[in-house]
Amino acid sequence: MSAVYDVKDLVIDLYTPTVSVRAVDGAGFHVDAGETLAIVGESGSGKTVMTLGPLGLLPEGVAVDLRGQASADGQNILDLSPRDLSALRGGFFGVIFQDPMSALNPMLKIGPQLAEQARRFQGLSAEAARKEAVSLLARSGIPDPEDRFDRYPHELSGGMLQRAMIALALAARPRVLIADEPTTALDATVQAQILALIRQIQKEDGIAVILITHDIGAVSVLADRVMVLYAGQVAEEGPALDVLTDPVHPYTRGLLASVPDFRSENATGTREIPGLPPNQARLAAGCRFAERCDRVQPACHKRRPALVAVHRGSDPRRVACPVVLAEEVIAHG
Ligand SMILES: Nc1ncnc2c1ncn2[C@@H]1O[C@H](COP(=O)(O)OP(=O)(O)OP(=O)(O)O)[C@@H](O)[C@H]1O
Ligand SMILES: [Mg+2]
Repeated sequence: MSAVYDVKDLVIDLYTPTVSVRAVDGAGFHVDAGETLAIVGESGSGKTVMTLGPLGLLPEGVAVDLRGQASADGQNILDLSPRDLSALRGGFFGVIFQDPMSALNPMLKIGPQLAEQARRFQGLSAEAARKEAVSLLARSGIPDPEDRFDRYPHELSGGMLQRAMIALALAARPRVLIADEPTTALDATVQAQILALIRQIQKEDGIAVILITHDIGAVSVLADRVMVLYAGQVAEEGPALDVLTDPVHPYTRGLLASVPDFRSENATGTREIPGLPPNQARLAAGCRFAERCDRVQPACHKRRPALVAVHRGSDPRRVACPVVLAEEVIAHG
């Protein structure tokens, strides 16, 4: 299957007047139609910048140097003009942000915002676009959609606003839905409902979904594959359930040990990974996790670990840790 969104060897440097940061350092990912890829990692590991950077959605007020390859349905998107990229982004990629107000205009009623998006990207007439907007509201689980059509964003609760933003993202009939921490601001019940909605849309439309999250429970429910990012580099990548139940990279192991057991109701005894992520403005050679790693060897400080395929579980896993990979080879021949 060919990837609908494919990013390779991505390097993104961010410059502010005071610091320069290598936010993404040679990372890549791909997502296929009908598949959900989850991207996890601590705050600041580069999840958002890596996923949205190639689409031209980058932090404001910083200068950016972006290198690598990125394609949408086989088309190179890094060479597009800002105008063409913006047009492609609207129709091909639907983005759900943590804060619905970053996507919705507070001055305009919800329904007309959806209708405008449907008119623009689906080429619908004004009347058909209005119908489509109402049906998108209903599909996103908003009760009484005819009434909600004429509401302003501030008249909706947090959960309803999040649903309205999902409806807005779907109005363009995207091929890739990117959900960046879609539920962190919501309470647990609404979180579960929003995740169920994303899963339902994904099943019905067969679109590709990229879920950026801190929520390992959400990964276990939604994701086919998971990618673990550490300080702008991929630590481990593989089938979600395999990685969650049998992590290989010491960082993935630490990350999973630091969250309550996603399979048990009343988890206890979680452990934090000691230390802090490295300062990405001053990075040493070698493995970026070495300072915090309980398996560290002297060689880890010298050379950057390559991402290597290892057969474990149902599909190949890719892991960037020569120390544990050496043990795998000894253990499994
Ligand atoms: N506006 C900005 N100015 C300067 N540096 C930034 C800015 N936005 C992000 N960065 C840097 O880029 C790196 C990656 O940030 P990114 O937002 O992609 O992380 P993230 O994994 O999405 O984190 P979170 O889980 O908190 O959303 C971090 O080191 C961060 O400090
Ligand atoms: Mg982020």
